[in-house]
Amino acid sequence: MNTESPPSQTVYICPLCNSPLNHQTTQNTYTCSNRHSFDCAKEGYINLLPVHHKHSKEPGDNKAMLTARRLFLEAGFYEPLARAIALMIDTVQPLTPKAHILDLGCGEGYYARKIIELCKRPEHIQLYGNDISKFAITAAAKKQKTAQFIVASSNKLPYATDTFDIVYRVFAPSDATELFRLIKPAGYLLTVTPGPRHLWQLKEHIYTAVTEHTEDAEIPPGFTPITSQRVSYKISPDAAHREALLEMTPFAWSASEAIKDTLKRLTELDIEADFIVTLSVKSGL
Ligand SMILES: C[S@@+](CC[C@H](N)C(=O)[O-])C[C@H]1O[C@@H](n2cnc3c(N)ncnc32)[C@H](O)[C@@H]1O
Ligand SMILES: [Zn+2]
Repeated sequence: MNTESPPSQTVYICPLCNSPLNHQTTQNTYTCSNRHSFDCAKEGYINLLPVHHKHSKEPGDNKAMLTARRLFLEAGFYEPLARAIALMIDTVQPLTPKAHILDLGCGEGYYARKIIELCKRPEHIQLYGNDISKFAITAAAKKQKTAQFIVASSNKLPYATDTFDIVYRVFAPSDATELFRLIKPAGYLLTVTPGPRHLWQLKEHIYTAVTEHTEDAEIPPGFTPITSQRVSYKISPDAAHREALLEMTPFAWSASEAIKDTLKRLTELDIEADFIVTLSVKSGL
């Protein structure tokens, strides 16, 4: 007697041939009709990044950057941003039956965890996350079993067309064509970009001339902006968290050992956190 339950269809498509991926629950594998097969890792994520799509052996953020990001974020320095994102999601989240929400370039999963903690109706959310870094996805999946994480590039995402009600991205790269394909008609895109004075005082220590970021978020073709909010406040991280903040940003590459040492020795440093949160709706090309 065959006791295997039939495979169930998923939101995923095969990264090799684009056919739908079915979940075989007994072996916990994801397979397409062309017999391409992907295992679910013990942490619960799926690696859907084919080797030939990788530009390096370990693409994306490395382990040191992720450890630094988790230490800094878990200390709550960017919680006001997480609250602003959650509030905006609350205003547009459809209730029936479950909103499919994607955290694009989710890193180690801080915002994915916060959305479920802070949104008013988490029982109506199915959260997904992707990142090109295997370290990031392993860390995210370990901490949040109810979300579905995959290793995949945001330039070619293995999700079916029109899967998501909401896609949000926090300081992560995206591809305009993929965003348009994946977001349902009249679905939403929420983008967080650095505000004009983001990390100003940290940058003053590193660069001879510091310039302000523009306040305009890039709206991809086919989307219409609805609202934009600037979230700015001061943080005062201690030496260990200042070091972590530096490690998780691209400035780490520009900072000499002498600068890093000076930053470590400061008794205190107030730093401006400045974010632009932009919500747009898919209105059609
Ligand atoms: C600045 S971090 C932001 C991570 C997370 N959103 C956060 O705010 O904590 C950028 C992330 O984008 C990921 N990344 C870079 N290129 C990518 C790509 N092509 N596809 C998916 N993720 C990518 C990196 O691995 C990294 O985790
Ligand atoms: Zn296939």
